[in-house]
Amino acid sequence: MPITFNKKSKIWYLETQNMGYVFGLDNLEKLKNYYWGPKLPRLEDYPTDKDYIVTDRYSWNHEFSTRSENNHVEHCLKVEYFDGVRDVILNYENYINEDNLLIVSLIDAYYGLRVRLFYQLIEEYDIIERWIEVENSSLKPIKIEDIKSASVYLENEKTARLNYLCGMWANEFCLRSEEINEGKKVLESRVGNTGPYLNPYFSIDYEAKEDKGRVYFGLLGWSGNWKIVVQKRIYERIAIVAGINDWDFTYLLEPSQSFITPKLMIGFSNEGFSKASQNLHHYQLDYILPQDKAHKLRKVLYNSWEATTFNVNEENQKQLAQKAAQIGVELFVVDDGWFGKRNSDNAGLGDWYVNPEKFPKGLKPLIDYVKSLGMDFGIWVEPEMVNPDSDLYRNHPDWVINFPNRPRTEQRNQLILNLAREDVKEYIKEFMDKLLTENNIDFIKWDMNRHIFESGWPEVEPNKQREIWVRYVWNLYDIWNYLRKKHPHVTFECCSSGGGRVDLGILRYADQVWTSDNTDPFDRLEIQEGFSYAYAPKIMMAWVTDWGGKDKYPLEYRFHSAMMVSLGIGADLKKFTPDDFAIAKKQVQLYKEIRDIVQEGFQYRLSSVNKERYFAVQYLTKDKNEGVIIYLRNPRRFGLFDRVNIKLKGLEDNYLYGIYEGIKDEEKEIIQLTGKAFKERGFIIEDSYLDFFYNGKSPLFYSRILKVKKID
Ligand code: DGJ
Repeated sequence: MPITFNKKSKIWYLETQNMGYVFGLDNLEKLKNYYWGPKLPRLEDYPTDKDYIVTDRYSWNHEFSTRSENNHVEHCLKVEYFDGVRDVILNYENYINEDNLLIVSLIDAYYGLRVRLFYQLIEEYDIIERWIEVENSSLKPIKIEDIKSASVYLENEKTARLNYLCGMWANEFCLRSEEINEGKKVLESRVGNTGPYLNPYFSIDYEAKEDKGRVYFGLLGWSGNWKIVVQKRIYERIAIVAGINDWDFTYLLEPSQSFITPKLMIGFSNEGFSKASQNLHHYQLDYILPQDKAHKLRKVLYNSWEATTFNVNEENQKQLAQKAAQIGVELFVVDDGWFGKRNSDNAGLGDWYVNPEKFPKGLKPLIDYVKSLGMDFGIWVEPEMVNPDSDLYRNHPDWVINFPNRPRTEQRNQLILNLAREDVKEYIKEFMDKLLTENNIDFIKWDMNRHIFESGWPEVEPNKQREIWVRYVWNLYDIWNYLRKKHPHVTFECCSSGGGRVDLGILRYADQVWTSDNTDPFDRLEIQEGFSYAYAPKIMMAWVTDWGGKDKYPLEYRFHSAMMVSLGIGADLKKFTPDDFAIAKKQVQLYKEIRDIVQEGFQYRLSSVNKERYFAVQYLTKDKNEGVIIYLRNPRRFGLFDRVNIKLKGLEDNYLYGIYEGIKDEEKEIIQLTGKAFKERGFIIEDSYLDFFYNGKSPLFYSRILKVKKID
C-alpha cells in the first residue's frame, strides 16, 4: 500500500519504491511533518511527534506552515481577511485517499478558508508531486499575500549541502554547491518568467557521490516568478518552502473561488546523484512532457538563425535547406526575420504577416521545397512581444504591460504584451491558429526575449493589479494548450533568449527547449552537465555551429558535444567544404544510430567537465544491452601524455560486452570485457596531445563516440 493511514495514531505513511514520507496530527490536532528519507522496513520504524531528536522540539515542523500559531518558519500561506485579521488558524477536516493520491483538507472555519493539500505518488521514480488548493467558502473576498506549493524538512547535519543551477544569458545551468548554514538562502525569479539566473531546481545531499549517498531534490513546475527558500536554525531540521514568488504579488480570492498552486515535485535517491537525475529524466518522459510525442525520437533539425540572422529570404533559405537535406537533416527551421518589417530587432514584432519583399509568394514555395526534400518545416515566433515600431503597437498601445505616468522600459527594443488580459490572449490564439492553419508547419520555436519591469495593469482595480504575474502564466499555458489541441501534429520548442524558460510547468506543453544561445561546443559542456541534474537529455536541443572558428574545434568535436542531447545544426552550410559535408553526413548518420539510447536511455555522468581533464557521459538502454559513451577532452586541464581510464556504469556483471567505434558499416571493435570488468577496472582511451604540441597534427579538442554492446 503506497498510502497508509493509521487511525489510532493519526499518521499518514506515504511510501514509494525506496522513499518514505510521513506526517500526522499531533496531540493538538495540528498537522506535523515527521519524516522524509529512505523507506524503512516497517511503519512502526518511522519517527512520530514523540521522537523529538529526529523531529525537533519547537513549533517548526508544520506540514503546511501558515502565518499563525507561534510559527516563524518561512510560511506557505499568508492572507488578509476582510477585517484585517492576518492570522490563519487551520484545523484538520478530513482526508481522501485515492490510489496514489492523498488529499488532506484543513479549514479555518471562522473565516471560511479551506486548504487542500495534495500528494500524488509516482512510485517507480520515488517522486511525490505536491500542490495545494485554497478555497474561499465565505461571503467576503480574501486577499492572498503568499501562497506556496509545499514545505519539506530535512535532517540538520553538518554535511548537508545545497546544490542549485544558476547562470545568465549564454551561460545557463551552472551547478553550484554549498554548505547549508543558519539563515535563509533564497533562490528566485522576479523577471516574469522562469529566468536564466536561477532555475527552480534544488537538491540537498549529505556527502553524496554520483552513485552513492542520500540526495533529496525538488523542482517547481512554474514558468513565472518563483521562490525556493532553504532555511536553517541552529537545532531544527532544514526547512524548504517553494512556490510562486510572494514578491509584488497579491490575489483577491472572491467568494466560492479557488486558487490552485503549481506543483512542486520532490524526490529522493539513496544511490547518489545519477539515480536522482535518472529518475527525474524518466519521470519527465513518462509524466510531464506532452505524452503524444514524449517517447517519439526528436528529429535532427537545422535552424538558420546563426547562418542568416534577420536576413532570411526564400532564396537563401532554399539554399540552406538543400544542403541540410544532403547531410540527413529531418526538420528545417526558419528563425527570426520572416515577418512584418523585421530587418533587425528594431521593428516588426507583433506584425505576424509574411514579409512580402523576402517571401514574395508567401511561405508556400519554401515549405513545398523543404517538404520535397523529405524534411519537416518549422518556424520561429515571439508572440508575447511587440516592437513600438509595429502596426500592432500603433493600434493597441494599451496592450503592453505598463504603469501609467512611468517610462515603458524597452529591452531588445521591445515591450511585452499583457497576456493577463483576455483580449490579448485571444489575439495571440487567433494569429497563431491562422499561421498554423494556412501553412503546412510542423514545428514552432516559441521565443521570449525580455524581462518584465514595469508590471502595471492599469485597466483593472488597483487591488487586482498584482495578479498580473500569475494570470500572465495561466494564459500562456492556456494558449499553448489550445494550440497543441488544435494542431496536434505540431512539435513545440520553448526558448527564452536561450534557456530562460525551462521548468516543469512549460514542459507540460513544450516538447523540447532551446537551452542556451552559447553554442561554443566546449563552453556548452558545462551547461549540458548542469542541465543533466534536473532535466532529461531528450528535452535539450544543441546545435553544431561555427562558434569558436573552424581551426579551433574539429567538426567531429562540435558534433560530439551536441550529440549528448537532441541534435541540431546551426552552422552556415553555405561555407561547408566537401570534406565538411562528408564528416557532417557521417556524424548525422551516427547520431541516428545512437539517438534512441541518448534520448530514451539512462544517463551516467562519468566525469565533471570543470573538475576533470575530460567530460564523458554514458548512456544505457533499460535492458542494459546497448550503450553509448561520448568522450570530449578538456584541454584546459589536460596533461601531455594522457591515458584516460574510463569506468562504465550499470552493465550486467557476468555478461560480455564489446566496445565499438564508427557508423554501422565501418564499425571497429576496440575491446571486449565482462560488464564487471568494465565497471571495476575500466578501459583505456588513449588521449595525448603531444602531437599537437609539437607539430599541430592532432587536434587540441579531441573527442570520441563509442558504442557498447552486450555480446551474449
Ligand atoms: C533568441 C534565441 O535564443 C535565438 O536562438 C534566436 O531565435 C533569436 N532569439 C532570434 O531573435
